[in-house]
Amino acid sequence: MRLLVIGGGGREHALVSRCAKETGRDDLFVAPGNPGMAACARLVAINPSQPDEVLALVEREQIDLTIVGPELPLSVGLVDRFIERFGADGRLIVGPTQAAAQLETSKAFAKAFMARHGVPTARFRTFDDVEGALAFARAGSFGFPLVLKADGLAAGKGVVIAPDLTAAEVAIRDAMIEQRFGAAGARLVIEECLAGPEVSFFALCDGRLGLPIGTAQDHKRIFDDDRGPNTGGMGAFAPSPLVDAGLHRVIMQTVIEPVLAGMAAEGQPFRGFLYAGLMLTADGPKVIEFNVRLGDPEAQVILSLIDEPLLPLLVASAKGDLASRTVQLAPGTRVGVTVASRGYPEQAESGQVIRGLDEASLLPDVAVFHAGTARRGDAIVTAGGRVLTVVGSGADYASAIARAYDGVAHVSFDGMQFRRDIGQKALAATGQAQVPR
Ligand code: AMP
Ligand code: GLY
Repeated sequence: MRLLVIGGGGREHALVSRCAKETGRDDLFVAPGNPGMAACARLVAINPSQPDEVLALVEREQIDLTIVGPELPLSVGLVDRFIERFGADGRLIVGPTQAAAQLETSKAFAKAFMARHGVPTARFRTFDDVEGALAFARAGSFGFPLVLKADGLAAGKGVVIAPDLTAAEVAIRDAMIEQRFGAAGARLVIEECLAGPEVSFFALCDGRLGLPIGTAQDHKRIFDDDRGPNTGGMGAFAPSPLVDAGLHRVIMQTVIEPVLAGMAAEGQPFRGFLYAGLMLTADGPKVIEFNVRLGDPEAQVILSLIDEPLLPLLVASAKGDLASRTVQLAPGTRVGVTVASRGYPEQAESGQVIRGLDEASLLPDVAVFHAGTARRGDAIVTAGGRVLTVVGSGADYASAIARAYDGVAHVSFDGMQFRRDIGQKALAATGQAQVPR
């Protein structure tokens, strides 16, 4: 089978590595990819957010199955264009249509959809006018802190948690008048602030069914102990020790199943990866957000725990045919540490030579996934904020943490930064002693 993975970050490196176990390099393409993937896939320098470029590549290389990593190609209708061109049973693609991708691309859509189908989420109101939003914040019906979300895609930066009314007013004006999030902030969702630990729950979906494929917890803030500004993700571990069998069932029954049934009933069946970001509140799990793709760095820690051939599952997702399938997850844990450039997440530096990549990759139970890297002559250099995810595997969290940081210790570049506490939350949740940082 000839495969194409769309994207060029750590998540896509993990997808490519996983696919490489089931297909040869001649049949595995990635667009645009990064230098870390060159050993197991053929890199093609196209713009994956231009559907015409992707369709041309798929025809030229006779690709059977395309797997979309990031949300942007989905948001511009890549899957719709595939179905138009190749029909539902022709060349296959894993991912939702543009309309189904609204679960991620429009927070107003996602919230209204959850309200229609009784999916547990924070109370909310949606506003298109700044005066209405200000008046609602001033009325104080949800109390403070108050959560303000730009409707559209805002690269993970569209959420403000306002501690008081003054901060809420500033955030509303920033989004709706100053257009801090561009067009994404013209519509604003205001919601109540929930409290509790956050977990990520992943399902592979075929339009009707969602098969659970793993859980994880990520670390969004730049500094240890969850301090400093939000990032795309500074590390993750899998599985989440907070999701026991009972909670797993509750999440399937109250979130995943009603979302798939609701999307199908509304004529927008959801295919591809559904990622539910959940807060475990005193009233049970509630949806904070949906993503319509795998997470980054969550993919780097969940994919290798799927103890089944992946390609047949992906084909079944694309064909609407998961009913007879099950997914077995391997025992053990994964811990992924993101290594970032100086200045990230504000102004990340690039062009620093990275040393020790081969040494780190050769360590037992360590995998190094590239994100922002580039080739310069014989060297690999940094090219962006998040540079690598170093993943350790172990029978328990402590050993996976030790393997991951052993891997990180072999890598170096000028200005390298990473958190030293990735996975400590998993130790705390399972009553294990913290390991020295
Ligand atoms: P999002 O971009 O929707 O994932 O939101 C970013 C972060 O904001 C989440 O990971 C949560 O930590 C926080 N957040 C979003 N919505 C809420 C909420 N209703 N209550 C508390 N925290 C929230
Ligand atoms: N790590 C969060 C995300 O991929 O959206």
